[in-house]
Amino acid sequence: MNNQPYVPPIRPNMIPPPSRALYGAMGEANIRQLLRDFYALLAQSAIQDMFPPNIEKASQKSADFFIGLFGGPPLYHQKYGSPMMRGRHMPFAIDPAARQVWLDCFLTVLSTPEKYDIPAELLPTLTLFLENFSMWMVNTAPSDSS
Ligand code: HEM
Repeated sequence: MNNQPYVPPIRPNMIPPPSRALYGAMGEANIRQLLRDFYALLAQSAIQDMFPPNIEKASQKSADFFIGLFGGPPLYHQKYGSPMMRGRHMPFAIDPAARQVWLDCFLTVLSTPEKYDIPAELLPTLTLFLENFSMWMVNTAPSDSS
């Protein structure tokens, strides 16, 4: 055991961002609903204890981030400053199993892309980003490798 955070074998500059055409195709209301549905799944998942009781508020803070990421206005930056996502996730022990739960919840909401007006040709840019960026968020080694 040591107190150093686990560093995954990936760097953010290796990760292609999702298409910035997503914002124009989806619009703000659909992005907000996507994050609302995603957080509703997280709130029932094996990692539910990580999330705050006000799940609506948390989902809409994340929505601010995704709106900018998808090519819309940089709401998250304006309200909260530089995202520094890995740093902001450090208070939570995210191991590969927690990452998989998080990713599965996101992939579940994305299994009905038409509900959010996500064009079929843009969907892979988002899933690839989420698969990779969620690896970068892992800060804790698997529990069986102490
Ligand atoms: C790898 C698995 C992940 C886990 C277990 C996880 C968990 C969490 C938790 C517990 C919070 C704080 C509660 C909240 O405000 O929602 C949070 C915040 C957030 N997460 Fe994640 N997260 C993961 C990956 C990601 C990824 C890949 C992204 C972006 C693509 C992301 C974006 C955010 C944003 C924007 C916030 C709000 C940050 C803030 O409070 O300022 N997360 N996440």
